[in-house]
Amino acid sequence: MITNTELEYKGNLYPNQIVDYIRDKDKFYFTTDNGVILEVTVIQDRTIRFRYATENNFQPDFSYAIDPDAKRGYNHIQVLETETEYIIETAKLQILVDKKTLRKQISDLNGTIINEDELGFHWEENYEYGGNTVKMSKMTQATESFYGMGDKASHSNLKGKRVNNWVMDQYAFGKDQDPLYKAIPFYVGLHSGQAYGIFFDNSFRTQFDFAHERRNTTSFWADGGEMNYYFFYGPEMFKVVRAYSNITGVPELPPLWALGYHQSKWSYFPESNVKDIAKQFRDLKIPCDAIYLDIDYMDGFRCFTWDKNKFPDPKKMIKDLKKDGFKTVAMIDPGIKIDKDYWVYQEAMENDYFCKRADGPYMKGKVWPGECHFPDFTNPEVREWWAELYKELMTEIGVHAVWNDMNEPAVMEVPTKTAPLDTRHDYDGHPCSHRKAHNIYGMQMVRATYNGVKKYVYPKRPMVITRAAFAGTQRFSSTWTGDNVATWEHLWIANVQVQRMCMSGYSFVGSDIGGFAEQPSGELFARWVQLGVFHPFCRVHSSGDHGDQEPWSFGTEITNIVRKFIELRYQLLPYLYTMFWRYSKEGKPIIQPIVCFDQEDMQTHFRTDEFIFGEQILVCPVQEPNAQGRRMYIPRGNWYNYWNDEIVEGGKEKWVAAELDSMPLFVKEGAIVPKYPVQQYVGELEIEQLVLEVYFKIGDETSTIYEDANDGYDYENGKYSLRNFKLLGKDKELTIQQFKDGGFVTSYETFKIILHGLPFEVKCIEVDNEEVDLEEVWSAEEGSIQVSKEFTQLRITES
Ligand code: NOJ
Repeated sequence: MITNTELEYKGNLYPNQIVDYIRDKDKFYFTTDNGVILEVTVIQDRTIRFRYATENNFQPDFSYAIDPDAKRGYNHIQVLETETEYIIETAKLQILVDKKTLRKQISDLNGTIINEDELGFHWEENYEYGGNTVKMSKMTQATESFYGMGDKASHSNLKGKRVNNWVMDQYAFGKDQDPLYKAIPFYVGLHSGQAYGIFFDNSFRTQFDFAHERRNTTSFWADGGEMNYYFFYGPEMFKVVRAYSNITGVPELPPLWALGYHQSKWSYFPESNVKDIAKQFRDLKIPCDAIYLDIDYMDGFRCFTWDKNKFPDPKKMIKDLKKDGFKTVAMIDPGIKIDKDYWVYQEAMENDYFCKRADGPYMKGKVWPGECHFPDFTNPEVREWWAELYKELMTEIGVHAVWNDMNEPAVMEVPTKTAPLDTRHDYDGHPCSHRKAHNIYGMQMVRATYNGVKKYVYPKRPMVITRAAFAGTQRFSSTWTGDNVATWEHLWIANVQVQRMCMSGYSFVGSDIGGFAEQPSGELFARWVQLGVFHPFCRVHSSGDHGDQEPWSFGTEITNIVRKFIELRYQLLPYLYTMFWRYSKEGKPIIQPIVCFDQEDMQTHFRTDEFIFGEQILVCPVQEPNAQGRRMYIPRGNWYNYWNDEIVEGGKEKWVAAELDSMPLFVKEGAIVPKYPVQQYVGELEIEQLVLEVYFKIGDETSTIYEDANDGYDYENGKYSLRNFKLLGKDKELTIQQFKDGGFVTSYETFKIILHGLPFEVKCIEVDNEEVDLEEVWSAEEGSIQVSKEFTQLRITES
């Protein structure tokens, strides 16, 4: 074994032997002879925090990423001491701390090593800025894979890659370009059938090396701050994401309209153009719930103002759009134009709310309006002021949701594309430079926006969108993947990015469908819509400096295909909403890469294209031109081809036909998928009957449907409807049991149950143990049964 003293080269410093150990309830402190303290906190049985101090000194314990409502509590802690190590045991894990080196080894209770320090903690003093570059290195286990890390545009399995977390405006980024718009220093590791996660809670620039520099080593480090990380044990991947979501938070349930199809462009103006676009959606019967106003609605790009030439009466326009079922979403940027006659600028100056440079002057940067100052959103008073700025926009003018852009913050015409590093920030009373605040700046902006929007749309639910994000930003806002390009490669990137974000605790995410820069062909646009309708956030947006990018911009054939898939999204809204409910309650990813669905199947570990939408629908976009289908991997189990009910057995690759008007789409056998009728916008129709698509299976399967008023907060007071269905299929019998909870009364009285793949003839139907008149409830032609929504047991047999 290499000793730490042998390694003290190139300025790296290492802890040496432990000389002191203290336990304080769920916290353990190990102090070394050379002044390193390791603090181990048992947060939950499967969640452990590790934090290191040098020179016997911890920094104040403050983090923007951590959710103040995170649940804590464990079932069991026990500590043992041997000659060579301390052993902390929880109900799930064993943590060994080596007395000589402070290195750690984490195993499950069967002794399988999950994660092990290689050199462990080490550091380098930073003479230029002060503080340390803090580093951690781990052993890479045989066959270990790595997932997560936010919006990286690389292969979903990061093994062999090095990544960098520094939020950046990256117009027309490319595959493998790094860093991008988000900094989410969280990854999921998988080996030996066991998954764990590591979240490095440090807002400085961080880097992760996944066996790139050295084959057997995984390491991460930061330009400053503390080595402070959380370890989450699965062993299932989704449980790792769930544990991470517990620590960094989940969003509240969005209003249902936010899950509809949205149309955006830079920019729709003047008012007549916005209205015209809205009218075309209704005329062509393409469902749409929201229209976006990009920066050109503003007066000279001054936030919270209107260009009265383009939009003479925004209040009336928004009201008219609303009558037609459209919500209006407006953009707000962080840069405030330096203009002594502009009220937002004046208020910020009077109150000293703008960021300053180290030596005193205001930080200045060029954005759309020209030279700007930037509010210091890390100051709580500034956040409160910012939240109040939304009052008029939301309550007077009636804007429904807000879109925060350029909040990295993006600065033009400088090589760094952002604020100078010596810019000062309050950091909620822990004053610091931009080196520390950069990655969380956009997050604090959108946090303030969320607070304002939430306050002023109340009693409705807020909807906010952000471009920049750090870990934890998911508590406040949905997001999109930034300025992509209309190429086939970017369709691949969008697919990987969205899956990756979902595995990084950030499920409310989508891409600019069709591509932001350049012009897609009709074929590319259609294929991208097919992917986009399965993304939690579904919006077409484009830079507008080329051709149009509305569903009807590519001729009738494409319009019809696009309509078909947007309609499918609207039909699946109750399914998607149920997934959002689960995500906002438990942190379960809305989209799972197939490795998360079946981690024990090694064949899933390097797949990028296939994913599970929710828990029961398998999606695989076509990502090439001129395709009549594609090869894809079908995960283990039996699946129904959505389009023709053909049953395929998984665990292998398969060619799946998919002409341009189709795509590979499968439903897990046993699933019960709820569907609404097609609506032109959420709330257009009162739902008179809920369709349940039932996919027969020999054996059992559980499905869930969550519903409520689709907006507002009554659901928090029990006004929700939760239905759990247990399907049990046998050779000549199908039983469905329903378990209901909640006090929300749905508008419909009956279900229409559509049976797929039933292997026998329906001769007898019993509802709650009573035989019913077949003629009344059964349609042999449609294979459907009408039944009261109150049933507790439905039994279908051949005799
Ligand atoms: C950059 C954003 O990423 C893009 O979506 C937007 O259209 C432009 N800024 C203009 O506001």
